[in-house]
Amino acid sequence: MGSWRNHVFLSHILIHLVGLIISQPDFVFKDCGLGFGNYTTNSMYQTNLDTLLSSLSSNIDSYGFYNSSSGENADKVNAIELCRGDVDLDTCRGCINNATSKITQDCPNSKEASGWYDLCILRYSNESIDGKVKNSPPHCAGNTFNEALRTLLNRLSSQASSGTLRKFATGNETGPGNQTIYGAMQCTPDLSEQDCSFCLQTIMTDIPSCIADSEGWRVDVPSCNLRFDNVPFFSQIPADSPPGIS
Ligand SMILES: *[C@@H]1O[C@H](CO)[C@@H](O)[C@H](O)[C@H]1NC(C)=O
Ligand SMILES: *[C@@H]1O[C@H](CO)[C@@H](O)[C@H](O)[C@H]1NC(C)=O
Ligand SMILES: *[C@@H]1O[C@H](CO)[C@@H](O)[C@H](O)[C@H]1NC(C)=O
Ligand SMILES: *[C@@H]1O[C@H](CO)[C@@H](O)[C@H](O)[C@H]1NC(C)=O
Ligand SMILES: *[C@@H]1O[C@H](CO)[C@@H](O)[C@H](O)[C@H]1NC(C)=O
Ligand SMILES: *[C@@H]1O[C@H](CO)[C@@H](O)[C@H](O)[C@H]1NC(C)=O
Repeated sequence: MGSWRNHVFLSHILIHLVGLIISQPDFVFKDCGLGFGNYTTNSMYQTNLDTLLSSLSSNIDSYGFYNSSSGENADKVNAIELCRGDVDLDTCRGCINNATSKITQDCPNSKEASGWYDLCILRYSNESIDGKVKNSPPHCAGNTFNEALRTLLNRLSSQASSGTLRKFATGNETGPGNQTIYGAMQCTPDLSEQDCSFCLQTIMTDIPSCIADSEGWRVDVPSCNLRFDNVPFFSQIPADSPPGIS
């Protein structure tokens, strides 16, 4: 009897431990696509979604990007993932693994959903995603806006847009009170230069209307994002390989 009780007790501990080990961090933002409705449990849509999500992290290219789809017609699911441009591939995979688990927990049965971590974004939808600017709804957080920032963001916007395989740029500018502002901007690499620039300019105009709730700022839409802060938050952008391609 005693050993049976111990067994039950240990099982509980084990389940909680496993729960702790496999629980993923919360998204910075998420959008469960409420207007898109729900899929039915055990439907073909769910099968396609599961297949797609489980294939994402292993298929990321060396620039931290992957887009794919699974299924046909009304059951077709499209997904896109993008890691921040300065994130190494292992971390990128880890982030996408977390995102794929978390999105199904947070948005059960959602036909469309997006989740944003600091280091990666994941989005899936029954609508096709690839190469189109998707820039609503904006998600934002922050507390400062000034000329130095505008200068910085305009520069980063054109740098990020003109990138090919990695549409990502980081930099800094000296602002009021001699304070350094650090910024990063990124588009999914399936966008053209014009579409990337359009997406980034659009979210720049969202900055002043955002709600102040943290030290830094970020605006994220599925196709592009920007972030700035008064402390450095990015690392060196990895050299594109093989050299010369980008
Ligand atoms: C996606 O799902 C929504 C809601 O069920 C539907 O209105 C829309 O037509 C679907 N789009 C495609 C491309 O199937
Ligand atoms: C979809 O599912 C969610 C949660 O299960 C529920 O709150 C929502 O009302 C559902 N939406 C539709 C359109 O059925
Ligand atoms: C993924 O989640 C685990 C468990 O919460 C966490 O330790 C890890 O840092 C996360 N990975 C990334 C890249 O965010
Ligand atoms: C700002 O960026 C320049 C050019 O990349 C770099 O040399 C400099 O160290 C940066 N300044 C700070 C304070 O990080
Ligand atoms: C601004 O900062 C730089 C380096 O951080 C320093 O050399 C310079 O003296 C500062 N200027 C003012 C006006 O504080
Ligand atoms: C993924 O994006 C590339 C452009 O970067 C495009 O050529 C390809 O068709 C897309 N694939 C899917 C499955 O959407």
